[in-house]
Amino acid sequence: MKGIILAGGLGSRLFPLTKITNKHLLPVFDRPMIYYPMQQLVDSGIREIMLVTGGTFAGHFLNLLENGNEFGMKHLHYAFQKGEGGIADALKLAEDFVEDQRCVVILGDNIFQNSIAPAVERYRQQKDGARILIKEVPDPERFGVAELRDGRVAGIEEKPAAPKSNFAVTGVYMYDSHVWEIVKTLKPSKRNELEITDVNNAYIARGNLCYDVVEGWWTDAGTFESLQRANQLVSEGMRRDDD
Ligand code: DAU
Repeated sequence: MKGIILAGGLGSRLFPLTKITNKHLLPVFDRPMIYYPMQQLVDSGIREIMLVTGGTFAGHFLNLLENGNEFGMKHLHYAFQKGEGGIADALKLAEDFVEDQRCVVILGDNIFQNSIAPAVERYRQQKDGARILIKEVPDPERFGVAELRDGRVAGIEEKPAAPKSNFAVTGVYMYDSHVWEIVKTLKPSKRNELEITDVNNAYIARGNLCYDVVEGWWTDAGTFESLQRANQLVSEGMRRDDD
């Protein structure tokens, strides 16, 4: 199983903070944002990881992470995304790295209270297809939203005005090697991006997408509000650990 962290994009919703470095290097409590997804993959037993990033400050990741030794890795693989063509566009860059294995994809701005390792383990037991993590939220219209029917995900809508449920699709996606033929069929969305939601819907159409519901809190950190929330949640967790 290989790991992919997607940390491209311009982080324009965090201007002017992101005029001087990449969004995923901003602090969340006592460490850079990118440490959280990195630790999640490592804790799930994944040691072969590719980080996809882009933009003016891509080099900052090398300065910070080097070969990933701090996380117990021998090498960390890097790919450069030109422009910000979307999450599925960034994912495309990892095809040669993943080869014929399966992969766990995590967005660089997603932070979870608990380890995703149990879900990754369930994916290891899953015969084939895809697996996603969903979480009930008060503001589903900000996310990809999963419509659940008869214990399955019937469809996913990206940032719907009228969400069909309160279940947001989080930024963890597990795929078999069919993902590479699927990403080649994608067309740019209204926001001119290749959408990960379209990849997941393609697996739903094949009847081959499973899900887990996240326990504990989950947040992204790509807006001022969510970045502040991430800081607060992580620091409260640390304080509780100290008690
Ligand atoms: O956080 C979960 C949500 O992430 C999902 O519910 C949505 O379905 C999914 O589309 C995504 O929504 P956002 O609009 O919040 O994604 P955003 O553009 O903020 O990108 C999230 C991360 O993906 C970002 O931190 C880095 C990576 N990314 C994004 C783009 C647009 C790339 O690596 N390259 C890109 O071109």
